[in-house]
Amino acid sequence: MKIITVAGARPNFMKIAPLMRAFAKQNSERCWGPEPIESLLVHTGQHYDVKMSEIFFRELGIPDPDINLEVGSGSHAVQTAEVMKAFEQVCLEHKPDWIVVVGDVNSTVACSLVATKLHIKVCHVEAGLRSGDRGMPEEINRLVTDSIADLLLPPSEDGCENLRREGVPENKIQMVGNIMIDSLVDNLAKSRQSPLKEQFQLEDDNFAFVTLHRPSNVDQKDTLEPIIAGLLQLAEQMPVIFPIHPRTKKMLETFAITHDHPNLKAIDPIGYHDSLYLSEHAKLVVTDSGGLQEETTYFKTPCLTLRPNTERPITLSLGTNKLSIPEALSQDINAILSATENHGEIPPLWDGKTAERVTQSLLGRN
Ligand code: UD1
Repeated sequence: MKIITVAGARPNFMKIAPLMRAFAKQNSERCWGPEPIESLLVHTGQHYDVKMSEIFFRELGIPDPDINLEVGSGSHAVQTAEVMKAFEQVCLEHKPDWIVVVGDVNSTVACSLVATKLHIKVCHVEAGLRSGDRGMPEEINRLVTDSIADLLLPPSEDGCENLRREGVPENKIQMVGNIMIDSLVDNLAKSRQSPLKEQFQLEDDNFAFVTLHRPSNVDQKDTLEPIIAGLLQLAEQMPVIFPIHPRTKKMLETFAITHDHPNLKAIDPIGYHDSLYLSEHAKLVVTDSGGLQEETTYFKTPCLTLRPNTERPITLSLGTNKLSIPEALSQDINAILSATENHGEIPPLWDGKTAERVTQSLLGRN
């Protein structure tokens, strides 16, 4: 079975690492039947900075990509089109049986479109998530990818229900659990050695971890300013570690929003191990990331998600996640800081074995 796995942007890398390992395990041990997997890894180059890409390959032990399309940044149309043009050549040359795409970034939808039109089967890992908000580019990517994929593997039961409601036949859907948690579990020993603890003199449960990058939060002064004000207020109470995404950095400069405070540690983007360390040990995470909503649920760390909705509702119903808006941020932070108990449950099949279920599912469908 020949499989091309696609990764393009930062949140994809922790999702493909366990897949690469499971494919290698099938080849060395034939755990799931006699058939070997001929695996090719394609990096679209959507993210290209060392701190947005290479560091994750190194930390997660992902083999170097077999092919890098080097598309870089651009408008949505340009970026998607460039990936499609380059990926079509790869498919024509290598003729895979399946392509595997993960998540909801532009590279995910671009490669799915190309493969489907060439009659190559598409497997979507992390299928079925819906925010219901078509103003988010990721929601469009999810809807389009899931409407053409051949095998849809949601991380939670709500994803299966969304797909059924959209008319996806039952035999294409399998709930496999959350592949991000495979990487989390594999990397805990390393993340607990993070040098950030010493560098910033961090005490467990006495600092906050903040990430922000969604256009809806950072691209307008009206939203970015109150968020930064909320963070400055939080910095009055504890150290705030704030690794800044390139998009956010650009917008803070454009709007001349200052965030100087001795307790607000605005730093460059961090690697995977440091991020896990901060999520596990923080008193509170403030974010608009999809992945952090899930990682904090696993760690049972309180999380405030600066969005009006989430495609990951299980992190609200079972996990430790809560939605917030810029204007209510300080109030929501104070509610968490004054809470005595912190309830949360790890969702079903978020157990570190999702990549094995994905591999088995693929091999069963050739
Ligand atoms: C993309 C994904 C988003 C994901 C996020 C994680 C889409 C539509 N969005 O958003 O779902 O949560 O990645 O980061 O696919 N840039 C750099 N260096 C890089 C990459 C980007 O400086 O390595 C800068 C460029 O100025 C670029 C901007 O960041 O224009 C945005 O990058 P882009 O890939 O377009 O989207 P993200 O906001 O990162």
